[in-house]
Amino acid sequence: MRICVVGAGYVGLTTAAALAVFGHEVQCVDINQAKIDDLNQGKMPIYEPGLDDLITEYSQKSKLHFSNNVVESIRDYPIILIAVGTPSQSDGSCNLSYIKQIVEIIASTINSYKIIITKSTVPPGTNEWIQQTFMEMGIKDDLFDIVSNPEFLREGRALWDIFHPNKLVFGTKTDRPLEVLKQLYLNEDTPFIFTSLTGAELIKYASNAFLATKISFANEMARICDAFEVDYADINKALGMDPRIGPDFLNAGLGFGGSCLPKDLSSLKHSALTHKIETKLLDAVIEINHKQIELYVQKLSDVLSPLAGRQITVWGVTFKPGTDDLRFSPSIALIQQLIQRGCIVHTFDPMVKLEASDVIPYMDQYESVDNSDALIIATEWDHFINCDWPEVQGRMKGSIVLDARNCLDGELIRNQGLLYLGVGIG
Ligand code: UDX
Repeated sequence: MRICVVGAGYVGLTTAAALAVFGHEVQCVDINQAKIDDLNQGKMPIYEPGLDDLITEYSQKSKLHFSNNVVESIRDYPIILIAVGTPSQSDGSCNLSYIKQIVEIIASTINSYKIIITKSTVPPGTNEWIQQTFMEMGIKDDLFDIVSNPEFLREGRALWDIFHPNKLVFGTKTDRPLEVLKQLYLNEDTPFIFTSLTGAELIKYASNAFLATKISFANEMARICDAFEVDYADINKALGMDPRIGPDFLNAGLGFGGSCLPKDLSSLKHSALTHKIETKLLDAVIEINHKQIELYVQKLSDVLSPLAGRQITVWGVTFKPGTDDLRFSPSIALIQQLIQRGCIVHTFDPMVKLEASDVIPYMDQYESVDNSDALIIATEWDHFINCDWPEVQGRMKGSIVLDARNCLDGELIRNQGLLYLGVGIG
């Protein structure tokens, strides 16, 4: 099949590469000239393990092309897969302007039957709006099918996720595109979920909202564990053994960040409110997540008062390990709080040199703790879990290690004469 993927971001590039692997002829387009130039020279605009090799291989095989000719490509290809950004606006709603631009291009150039697949995460009702827009522009419904096909890709594991999906969700208005859709991803053993356009949109939001709920639940439980001097790790383990609950997304810590969970939660809440639906559970999930930052600052100031003037090293600045993505990173929110409290902040991250005012970034993990009063672990990279604690102890001025991901071996650290702090660690 000949597919035009619109948008060369995380989702667009991963999907374009995978579709090429599945044997389709893929053209990935983006309005960003520099991005396309880089891709054509084999340079990746994002970090995603394995993606660069795949893109190089399938570009060389002429199965995957990159272009700036957005309008021409959209006109020429029979299947259009929309993977443009849908960022948050200040009121929490989604900015759909990129989607609208693409819809206008399709509407003004369509001259033969097309399947238009929305991969971008969009609020409930968006795909119905696209359908309606086409109809209002006089485009006959035998000329197009709209499909809502959300993705469930985790950054850092996007290729694994796209080649091993636990389900494929397709929202459609008619049965007409189903045979083509079944052949799109070539995952024979993967269950399909066929639903309405809005049903597919809500599956995506429900999925991310539920994952976020699990994390906020874990964080609240860990606070309760703190109060009762119980080890949350035992609770986590026991919960995970119940198949009705499942073991994932129950780690307590600084909370969730990234380009999806915070944005999708706000957007779902906003969509519900426009229909006068109260979202008490979602509100609590968001509030608990925000309060995690305060909790850790408080934990630090309980043992290091006053905080002003103290040198604090933060290990890990991205929103999770295995990525270079800083979007909605809880670590950055924590660093901002520390700066506001008058701390001098040093950082180290295996992937990113944080360029921010009032922050001193280090390229060497151990140098970053020289003379620091405290060390905070903000993401659970192996570099931190398996680090040389005698070396850390020898370089630090103070002795506080605040494990904001509950990922370290507390006993090992205490044995070095350091003060190990976490949340819900008994
Ligand atoms: C997420 C969804 O998992 C994915 O299906 C969707 O398509 C996009 O959003 P991603 O943003 O890449 O993927 O990150 P994910 O691995 O889900 O982690 C999200 C955040 O939750 C991270 O900040 C992570 O540190 C945090 N987290 C995760 C916890 O705090 N505790 C956990 O137990 C798990």
